[in-house]
Amino acid sequence: RRRERNIAAQVKNRLPQKMLNLLKSAGDLGHKLGWEVYAVGGFVRDILLGRPNFDLDLVVEGDGIEFARKFASLSGGRVKAHSKFKTAVVILDDGQRVDVATARLEYYEYPAALPTVELSSIKMDLYRRDFTVNALALRINPGRFGQLVDFFGAERDIRNRTIRVLHSLSFVEDPTRILRAIRFERRFDFQIGGQTMRLIKNALNLELFSKLSGTRVMHELQWIMNEEDPLACFIRMQELGIMAAIHPLLKLTKDKVQILTELGKVHNWYKLLYLEPEITSWKLYILGMTMGIKREDIGQVTTRLHFTRKEEKDFKQLRDMIGDALMKLMGWREGKSKLSRLYSILHPIPVEGILFLMARSRKEHIRRNISQYLARLRYVKIDVDGKDLLNLGIEPGPIYTIILDRLMRAKIDGHVETREEQLEMAIKIFKEDLVQNGDSTEN
Ligand code: CTP
Repeated sequence: RRRERNIAAQVKNRLPQKMLNLLKSAGDLGHKLGWEVYAVGGFVRDILLGRPNFDLDLVVEGDGIEFARKFASLSGGRVKAHSKFKTAVVILDDGQRVDVATARLEYYEYPAALPTVELSSIKMDLYRRDFTVNALALRINPGRFGQLVDFFGAERDIRNRTIRVLHSLSFVEDPTRILRAIRFERRFDFQIGGQTMRLIKNALNLELFSKLSGTRVMHELQWIMNEEDPLACFIRMQELGIMAAIHPLLKLTKDKVQILTELGKVHNWYKLLYLEPEITSWKLYILGMTMGIKREDIGQVTTRLHFTRKEEKDFKQLRDMIGDALMKLMGWREGKSKLSRLYSILHPIPVEGILFLMARSRKEHIRRNISQYLARLRYVKIDVDGKDLLNLGIEPGPIYTIILDRLMRAKIDGHVETREEQLEMAIKIFKEDLVQNGDSTEN
């Protein structure tokens, strides 16, 4: 029989008051409706691990959608319901998301696998999940608040730092769980259990992985790239032959490991210093994962990972821009070359590409220059716009881009400072242009 340890004290200590109130009011509502309500999954796992987690998942032994509607109207928020799955998302007025699911026996595929007397809806709900550590539930109804429901030895596995599946078909049912196992293992510094590892190897031998759709692989890769240390996951994947199983070109080489190490450092550095623009992690790390792959081969990877047309186009373009910038940066000399030149090299490149360039550059001064671009140059704004040019009586046309661009470069190089100086320079450029055009029509 399972034990139900009460962890109310830990729950109270480890959650912010707001989250605690949320749990309490959800539990109170469950009580009023006569339904048992549980917090489940990663939320509960992370309470035990003492890690902050604000993604609240609830399971209701009753009608999840009705519960969600009532909860939203009580607490103030909107509901998006998926009647097909009997699930709902509540978005509270402060932005907090609460996912609500329904636990009811008739929806499960496995009832025959367990003796009927033992079945409770929450148990079946938890049994469908990937790993024991994610298969915990926490009662939140009044009177039972804080009781931990652990059917599968999750607490023991958390204590022993083990990732373990609930049953032997887990990876066959869903091979993406292999990547999830690796992700959780690295994130928490756990170990995939012995039997679970055998099941992973089995699934890989059956080539379940190669059959996985590009969309699903990419989705999981993106989760990995959002982790603190994606490279640790990649290395584990490589050890198990998963990189090659996704696509032979994705095998990790020494160069890739080196650039991915640097990318991780640069990424963390950037996150500490700058809030904006936010980095799209996968756009950054996919550059490292595909380093050294020839231009004519890269399409194989984007096809395997099911990039959209636009993603593929943007990605190829980014790789080209980076190659181009690398060459130009080599010719740029600090103190000799103009800052505006550095600006022109880097400005067209999305921030992920800039960080890649930084990670790629072994030369300290190039890194310093890129960092100077990120810290200052990219924010430079001129104080003149198209309206001003119109007011100066300049006929709209391509000349506007030319003028504004030259003003920007002049400002970066410190040739103009004030708005007046910039307006004056605009007139000068305009007149020069008139003279030049006059010349060309005469010739
Ligand atoms: N789940 C699963 N199989 C999957 C994906 C998810 O069994 N392929 C289950 C897991 O038990 C998980 C729950 O669905 O706890 C919610 O999924 P997700 O939000 O991805 O997991 P979390 O555990 O909350 O992970 P994270 O901390 O990364 O958000």
